[in-house]
Amino acid sequence: MANHQKHILKFFVIIVSLVACYCTLQEDPHILLHSDDSPYTIDDGGTFESLIKQSPDDHLRLKTLDKLVGPSLPFITVNVNDYGAAGDGITDDTKAFQKAWEVACSSSGEAVSLVVPKQNYLLKPIRFSGPCKSDHITVQINGVLEASDNPSDYEHDPTHWLEFKNVQSLSVKGDGTINGNGNIWWQNSCKRNKKLPCKNAPTALTFRNCKNLVVENLKIKDAQQIHLSFQDSIYVRASGLTVTAPQDSPNTDGIHVTNTQNIQISSSVIATGDDCISIVSGSQNVQAADITCGPGHGISIGSLGTKQAEAFVSDITVKRANLSGTKNGVRIKTWQGGSGSASNINFQNIEMKNVTNPIIIDQNYCDQKDPCKQQQYSAVQIKNVLYHNIKGTSASEVSVRFDCSEDFPCQGIVMQNVDLTLETGEASKASCHNVQVSYVGLVTPRCP
Ligand SMILES: *[C@@H]1O[C@H](CO)[C@@H](O)[C@H](O)[C@H]1NC(C)=O
Ligand SMILES: *[C@@H]1O[C@H](CO)[C@@H](O)[C@H](O)[C@H]1NC(C)=O
Repeated sequence: MANHQKHILKFFVIIVSLVACYCTLQEDPHILLHSDDSPYTIDDGGTFESLIKQSPDDHLRLKTLDKLVGPSLPFITVNVNDYGAAGDGITDDTKAFQKAWEVACSSSGEAVSLVVPKQNYLLKPIRFSGPCKSDHITVQINGVLEASDNPSDYEHDPTHWLEFKNVQSLSVKGDGTINGNGNIWWQNSCKRNKKLPCKNAPTALTFRNCKNLVVENLKIKDAQQIHLSFQDSIYVRASGLTVTAPQDSPNTDGIHVTNTQNIQISSSVIATGDDCISIVSGSQNVQAADITCGPGHGISIGSLGTKQAEAFVSDITVKRANLSGTKNGVRIKTWQGGSGSASNINFQNIEMKNVTNPIIIDQNYCDQKDPCKQQQYSAVQIKNVLYHNIKGTSASEVSVRFDCSEDFPCQGIVMQNVDLTLETGEASKASCHNVQVSYVGLVTPRCP
């Protein structure tokens, strides 16, 4: 083999191992996307770098290598005020934001930032659509985004206010606030006024079909319905979020995860009128860590299997969470008649304070006006659930409730070091149907 060819071969082997290595990195959301301190740095004692330097003329430079070699395109900043946003909280700034997004998304910079200064922006529904030209888009929100509270502004798409769609390597961050101004929707909710028809209200902030997404340090409040939703996305890191709405605001889930894989939610405080975090079908490798929750309905997997749907969720970890004054602590809920499974679920290092149902599996979940029919012929199978280091107090006598399906009993339920008492310090109880629990360490209460 000619020397040159050997050289190319060597080069190729390194590229292949590098790509393999990068893919492994991608699998760990911890490591994912620290784009500020380049993830491409390889410490191999200089071999790799010298190899690149030695072969500047090689035509083998893959796209990955272009990145390794460093930026050649400019860093671009797009400010919404330069596109006509008034930022006075009164003027409708929707068009300015749309224009600014179009400019940002179509810029081919090494990195592009769309900046929202520290002012108040009144916005109707906006869809920020990709794909974008740049490999890194940052939306830096320093100001306040306020939702129009005129329902007729939402006629085109009644279920979204701000939506990012089809964008890769997107970061949305800043210490700004996203305010859904939800009061009008709460008043018109069938949960508040039973005479009204049940209609969906907009989700304040939706990410759909995004890959390599970071959402950081935002405050999201008073959503029309769900505050923050991750949908059909992969490799997501959400952290430092503060999500708040009144305790009696209907259906105002904090963070909703649907059909999303490899997502990490961390260091966030959530206090709303519905679930703090809800994880539903198609979600896999979901980790929620260092979460403060309450008031609200707790951390929920499901509901799953509504209207006979097939649902799958797996590999979910919730750890280091404090729940206070919530209706539920950690809950898995499925409707009767669904199919599929919820499996490999770990709840660990969780503290409960005055939680009504600290540990609950509810396979007879029913959240509709008419009572649900008994449909025991099928169910979403619940399998391999670990409750580890869960302690604190229950607001109700029954702190552990396993209400599993008769035909598809819960399998592989393990409780390890669980200690739940009543607020008074008295013993609480467990209520168990169609389940066999394995106990490790000290566990109270246990199934009768
Ligand atoms: C939960 O509360 C404990 C004290 O009871 C505290 O040490 C811990 O940092 C809290 N965790 C979170 C995520 O707030
Ligand atoms: C505990 O929760 C119950 C029901 O949610 C509530 O009525 C009660 O005031 C709470 N107690 C404390 C000490 O917070």
